[in-house]
Parts: sequence; structure tokens; C-alpha cells
Amino acid sequence: MENFAAGTAAPETEPVAIEPEVPGRLLPVAELHLHIEGTLQPELIFALAERNGIVLPYSGLDELREKYEFTDLQSFLDLYYANMAVLQTEEDFADMTYAYLERAAAAGVRHAEIMMDPQAHLSRGIPLKTCVNGVASVLATSEEDFGISTLLIAAFLRDLPEESALEVLGELLAMNAPIGAIGLDSAEVGNPPSKFERLYDKAREAGLRLTAHAGEEGPASYIIEALDILGVERIDHGIRCMDDPDLVERLVDARIPLTVCPLSNVRLRAVDTLADHPLPAMLAAGLNVSVNSDDPAYFGGYVDDNFAQLETVFELSDFDKARLAANSIHSSFASEERKAELLEELNGGEVMH
Ligand code: ADE
Ligand code: ZN
Repeated sequence: MENFAAGTAAPETEPVAIEPEVPGRLLPVAELHLHIEGTLQPELIFALAERNGIVLPYSGLDELREKYEFTDLQSFLDLYYANMAVLQTEEDFADMTYAYLERAAAAGVRHAEIMMDPQAHLSRGIPLKTCVNGVASVLATSEEDFGISTLLIAAFLRDLPEESALEVLGELLAMNAPIGAIGLDSAEVGNPPSKFERLYDKAREAGLRLTAHAGEEGPASYIIEALDILGVERIDHGIRCMDDPDLVERLVDARIPLTVCPLSNVRLRAVDTLADHPLPAMLAAGLNVSVNSDDPAYFGGYVDDNFAQLETVFELSDFDKARLAANSIHSSFASEERKAELLEELNGGEVMH
């Protein structure tokens, strides 16, 4: 058993006032690393297939669930892209988004930055406006409906050519899509950030915020490329930074946010077991880490499940949990006003369910 704070100097992160733990109280968190298509639960996959007259290659829920044994990122991506076939109409995208927000609210999520993969839908013949409008229609009232402020991130598939990403970003901008940031996801190894320099230049010029997956399966050097060549403000995953002490020092000094997804890393075999996860070492090193669910329908849990399992394995202290929550809020692309509101809630200004 390991306590995050035990025997280590207090990491150089933002100060957090720690309130005594209230049993049953959920910490207000920002979820910064979430693929909306990765929230499609097996039941919803079957319901949407039926609604759209799609015959799935599984006899039922049990056979589908048997496929959720992944050996690496690619083995997951194959199923993740295949299951998107059930997303056909704006209503499908809206229902998926509604279901995520409802569950996220119960997990304590108060701000969500949600990635979607437009190219994965375009390649299936689904128009951009169908996926964008479907998701955005639900995000538009999320604050009223669920108390969750949101930001939509257009994520680009790094295993496709940069030209495709440039074209789709151009279309998103032309249609005034309500996106606030871009991201980079899909098969990492062999598709380094440097491949997307022009895409990130274009997004920056358009005033979008910048994040990218790096150091999930790929090497620490991909994190350096994402910072130096793409100019990202945030790194999604980033766990492989621990292979490079100089990079860790740089990330700590610059307070670069790393949106870590512990259950995802276990399910995709980036680590052997949760007990082997570098999160405690990352916190102890003073890295600006947050806890996120990535693709919760595929990896066995939402943000609260990630926290709960971390707590069993590492005996997270109240201080560690509050720090992780504060890091998530500080690292978000929310307005300063919204961040202040959430930090006040976290620091005990308001009782949280
Ligand atoms: N797309 C959805 N989930 C992903 C992950 N964990 N890594 C890369 N691309 C993804
Ligand atoms: Zn991800």
C-alpha cells in the first residue's frame, strides 16, 4: 500500500484548502479526457442498432462484452470504431451525449471537455453536421440540465494523413462548429505529433485551445514533440514522461497538465495492474496530473470509479484527492470565472452531494 503524500515534499501545485471528508460527498471535478464515442454502453449500442435497423455481428450483450478484453491500444480501437456503426442520426449522437452527462453528474463531474472523432464518422458517410449538431444540441443545455459546463474538442485521427485533418478542421471552422479546442488521438506509435504541425498552426490561428494524446503507448519524445512542435497546452495521458527525468522536471516547472486515465492504462496494458500505475510517483514528483475516464464504457468505469479503485489500491488521502480535483479544474479550458466557482465548491464553500 502506498500513500501518495507519504515521505515526499509537498509537490509544487496550487494550494488547496482541505475540508474534512464528508462521508458520501463527491469531489467536484473537471473531466478533461473523455471520448464521447467511448461512452457508448453495450445496452445503448444494441438499442441504437435496433432503432437504425443495423444487424450487429454479436448475438447479444454477453457476446459483445466478451470482446472487451484488450491486448493493446489497437485492439481496443478496432472495436471502438466498429461499434460507431450504430451512430447514424443526430438523435443517436444526442442520446449518447445525454447518457454520458447524466452518469458524469452522478460521478461529481462539474465541467467536461469532451472529444469527438469527426473523421471516424465522415469515413462512414455520416455528415459532419449530424455528429456535431447531435452532440452540441445536448451540450448547449448541459449546465442547466446537469450542472456540468462543457467544451467540445474536435479530435483528429493521427493514423490518417494530416491533409485529412486539415480539410475537416477547415469544414468545422467554415460551419462555425461550436468547438473550443482540438486534440489528437487514435494509434499513437508510428504517428508522431510532428506529423500534425500545420494542423496545430491552423487551429492556433483560429483561436482554438490545443491538446494532444502523447506518451500513452508512444515514447516520452512524443510528449516533447507535442510541446515543442505542436505547442500544446495540455498532454492527454503522458504517463511515459516517467521514462525521462529531464522531461519530468520540465513538465513540473511549466505546470503542464497531464490528463491521466488509470483504468484505461490498465485495460490497454500500458501498465500491468493498477498497483503498477505511475500516478503516485507522478503526484510525488509534483506533476500536474488529473484523473479521467477516457472511454468509460470500455474500460470499466467513470471518473468516480477511477477514484474509487485508486483509493483501494493506493490509500489516497483526502489531500491527494483534493489535489487531483483542483488540478483538473485549474487545467481546464473553462473561463476563469467558472474555475473560481468550482474551486470554491471544492474548498468547501458549498456542500457537495
Ligand atoms: N481514442 C479513443 N480512446 C483513445 C485512447 N485511449 N488513445 C488513443 N485514441 C483513442
Ligand atoms: Zn484518450
